[in-house]
Amino acid sequence: MDPIQQQIKDSKLPLEPHALIFPIPFQGPVNGALKLAELLCLSGIHVTFLNTDHIQRPLIRHTDVLSRFSRYPNFKFETIPDGLDHENPVSGDRFQEVMDAIDAVTKPLFREMMVSGRFSRRSQRPVTVMIPDGVFSFAVEVAIETSTPVISFETISPCCLWTSYFNLAPLIEAGCIPFTGNDLDEHVENVPGTEKVLRKRDLAVFCRLNDISDPEIQRTLEEARTIPRAQGLILNTFEELDNLILPHMRRLCPNIYTIGPLHSLHKSLLKPKPTQKSPETSSSNSVWKEDRTCLLWLDTQAPKTVIFISIGSMVTLTLEQLLEIWHGVVNSGKPFLWVRRPGSITGGYDESQVPSELLVRTKEMGCIVDWAPQEDVLAHSAVGGFFTHSGWNSTVESIVEGVPMICWPCYVDQQVNSRFVGEVWKAGIDMKDSCDRFIIENAVNDIMDVNRDVFTRATNKWANLAKESIGETGSSSINFARLIDDIRIMSSTMK
Ligand code: UDX
Repeated sequence: MDPIQQQIKDSKLPLEPHALIFPIPFQGPVNGALKLAELLCLSGIHVTFLNTDHIQRPLIRHTDVLSRFSRYPNFKFETIPDGLDHENPVSGDRFQEVMDAIDAVTKPLFREMMVSGRFSRRSQRPVTVMIPDGVFSFAVEVAIETSTPVISFETISPCCLWTSYFNLAPLIEAGCIPFTGNDLDEHVENVPGTEKVLRKRDLAVFCRLNDISDPEIQRTLEEARTIPRAQGLILNTFEELDNLILPHMRRLCPNIYTIGPLHSLHKSLLKPKPTQKSPETSSSNSVWKEDRTCLLWLDTQAPKTVIFISIGSMVTLTLEQLLEIWHGVVNSGKPFLWVRRPGSITGGYDESQVPSELLVRTKEMGCIVDWAPQEDVLAHSAVGGFFTHSGWNSTVESIVEGVPMICWPCYVDQQVNSRFVGEVWKAGIDMKDSCDRFIIENAVNDIMDVNRDVFTRATNKWANLAKESIGETGSSSINFARLIDDIRIMSSTMK
């Protein structure tokens, strides 16, 4: 217990619930964590949101988060150094660099701040519960060291957490990883709940590494060992969506709060009552500037005709991959809205290498932006399909809007997500490990024309279940209420 916690304990004053939310510094996790923070504030919990310097800079530059959160007197931003001096958010190919910098700089500072009570002194109230990203194993260790309750917030998908994180050690012990032989289509039989679903190629991509001493594998093993030591685990999913794996996961982590789709729960709880004026600010948490003009372009398109292309905040493309996707989409004849995030093309974008017919056709049928208001785009009636990297937030956002997906996964949880989209939820096509213009053209035509009805039936079903889950008596609403109750109970039992 830190000195401030001790002081208050001795004074017998009641401890007010105060959550410390600490996300990993990437767009998707920070976005989700801010939504969770706002919901906790609305429920009367004090929140300190700890961002690393590197992500806080662009977040403040491109959004109104500071003024938006100033509505909540019980909310406070804090930052912590991370040793990264990049002005802009970095791509996923520098994930290891970010994690190394956090290990070297942030981790010791964080421990010192919490153990010495400096953090509680600064925020004038003790932290009564920590909610770190699941990847921050060190934060769970510090929570245990300071006797602070801790609830992990896992922003990757539950299907990946289960198959490739919690089952990584058993798969290594069973001799399945490192893979022997070259057949990535071989089924993985020993992950409970997914025996009929999973092939080797559908595990997280680090499972393809030959060396289990690789830092990525070691970090994952540590994360899988640490999360069950927390008092709870928050997941951005809803019960029906992940009912194949949640019962198995609960044997390891009995206290799981499925509160997703988090962005929908957030929207519904923030919805102004009929007597209230709607807030004038946007709710963007984007670390790139959103170009909202693409919504006007979408307004000019017929319903369900547009394919939306976005590879999230971390994935990069080679010029060759860019051209394959471009040819495939143009050849499908469908209008397209494409997010080309600055810095997302390895080696830079050189228009002189793009065949002129692509540029001409794009002027006729395409709209390209640096960064889009993705949730609004997916909710737009003109959008009929989503070419996605299968990041977990994008997947959930697409499921909520009932938009079928073409999945082109790259790393983290994306290989598993795309398999679940294609095979379990039947909400799209998984084209992992290929990037070919003919496959892409066929996939676009398949989801938007040939098998549109089949996909629509499945995606409508999930969209309805997602909406039910955040309804008054839905599982995610109930779990969120339980989370708030538990935070209060945990805070009071710290006395
Ligand atoms: C990363 C990993 O890639 C992903 O696999 C993991 O599940 C979470 O961390 P990211 O690449 O950012 O996430 O993908 P994703 O999880 O899909 O999140 C992207 C977020 O950015 C979404 O919330 C999406 O709405 C938003 N976005 C994306 C925009 O607001 N505008 C855009 O133009 C593109």
